Amino acid sequence: MRKKIVAGNWKMNMDLAEGLKFAGSLEKYFKEKPAEKAQVILCPPFIHLAGISEIIKHGKIALGAQNCASDASGAYTGEVSAWMIKSTGAQYVILGHSERRTYYHEDDKLINKKTLLAINSGLKVIFCIGEVKSEREAGQHFLIVRRQLEEGLFSLTEEQIDMIVIAYEPVWAIGTGLTATPDQAQEMHKFIREQVKEKYGNDCAKKLPILYGGSCKPSNAAEIFSKPDVDGGLIGGAALKKEDFTAIAEAF
Ligand code: PGA
Repeated sequence: MRKKIVAGNWKMNMDLAEGLKFAGSLEKYFKEKPAEKAQVILCPPFIHLAGISEIIKHGKIALGAQNCASDASGAYTGEVSAWMIKSTGAQYVILGHSERRTYYHEDDKLINKKTLLAINSGLKVIFCIGEVKSEREAGQHFLIVRRQLEEGLFSLTEEQIDMIVIAYEPVWAIGTGLTATPDQAQEMHKFIREQVKEKYGNDCAKKLPILYGGSCKPSNAAEIFSKPDVDGGLIGGAALKKEDFTAIAEAF
C-alpha cells in the first residue's frame, strides 16, 4: 500500500502568532482524532518552522518548507538552505511549485539542483509539476509533464527517488476554483507513474506517492482521492481553514 498524504501549503499567509496558533489547533485536533489513512504535512513559511516543530509533538503531523536555496551555504543574502530547514525538525520541502516557476523564473535545471541539495540534506521533496492552461488546450500537457520529470527529476538515482513525492498541479487549477476532473487527474497520474516505471522500474513506480493539487476542497477531495493513482493532495487555500483541511485529511 502506498503512503497517502495530505499536505497543506500555507503559501505567504499568517504571521508568526497566527501560524503557531493555527498549528496548535491542528495538533490538538489530530491528536484526538488522527487522520487514519493519511500522513498530514504542514508547509508554513520559513519563520514558522522552528516554532511549529515544537508544537507538533505527538507525531501525527509532519512539517515541510515551501522552498529552499539552490546552494548549500555561504554568501547568499536572504536565502534559506535545505540544511537549515532540516535543522528545524522539518522533514519535507516543496520544490518546483508553479508560483516559483512563474514569479521567480525557476526552471527545471534549477529545480533539479535544489532537489539534489534537499535530498542530500535529508529532506523529502514534494516535487511539483503541471501544465498551464494554454499547454493543455494545445494538447501538450503530457509533453510538458514528461519534460519536467526528465529535466527536473530523472537524474536522481533509484535510491534518491525514494525521497520524492510528486505533486501534479495543473497550473490552471491552482487558486482558480477550477479543478481537474477526477478522470483528468487519474489520466495524468497514471501517465506520471508510467514514466517513472519506464525509468526506474515497477517497484519504484508502485511505491511513489503522487498527489493532486489545484483547488482541492472537502467537496471534491473524496472523489479525486478515490482514483487508483491519486495518493492524496497538496492543498493551498483550503489548508488555511481548519474545518476544510481536516475534512480533506479524512477524505480517503
Ligand atoms: P490551491 O493551491 O489549493 O489554492 O489551488 C494548491 C497549491 O498551489 O499547492
